[in-house]
Amino acid sequence: MSEVELESSIESYLRLTLSPKRFIHSLNTAEWSRNLASRFDMDPQKGYWIGLLHDAARELPPEELLQRTKSLGIQPDPIELENPILLHGLISAEIARSRFGIREEELLEAIRHHTLGKPSLHPYGKVLYVADYIEPSRTFVDDTFRATILSLSLDEMLLKILEEEKRFRKNLAPITQEMYDELRGRILERA
Ligand SMILES: [Fe+2]
Ligand SMILES: [Fe+2]
Repeated sequence: MSEVELESSIESYLRLTLSPKRFIHSLNTAEWSRNLASRFDMDPQKGYWIGLLHDAARELPPEELLQRTKSLGIQPDPIELENPILLHGLISAEIARSRFGIREEELLEAIRHHTLGKPSLHPYGKVLYVADYIEPSRTFVDDTFRATILSLSLDEMLLKILEEEKRFRKNLAPITQEMYDELRGRILERA
């Protein structure tokens, strides 16, 4: 399948499986993920694929996410059992692999972990996390915040977004907090 064919086949799939609002969110995330990948010397096309596919399973019912996870032989952790929607990252990655032939581990990892992040996230994962948060249909982000983000390094972008998330939620999930601590330590070391 050519890149153009793959792109249109993913888009048709998403158009069928997602609400119009989430479909637009996926296109926007793909666009921003492509631009960020290019800005940070990664493959823009790969940035586009992960943005497009990251929420492919987002509208599956929670019971189906749980059941598909178990059928992959993966035991959800307590946070995921409590909130099975978090499993859409894992199942979207599985759709990317089995249905669309995405094989690169760093791309699958980016999709899998776009919900909570993780320490030592690959740069593609960072790009996706940032694009998912700041793409233009996200109304909780204003243009000033977006402009600030765009003036930063990739690690600083991610840290800034996590700081913003910390202001809005009482606690980050433990794995997100670990990513935050790692980034913060690394940035302070460089300063
Ligand atoms: Fe998502
Ligand atoms: Fe998303």
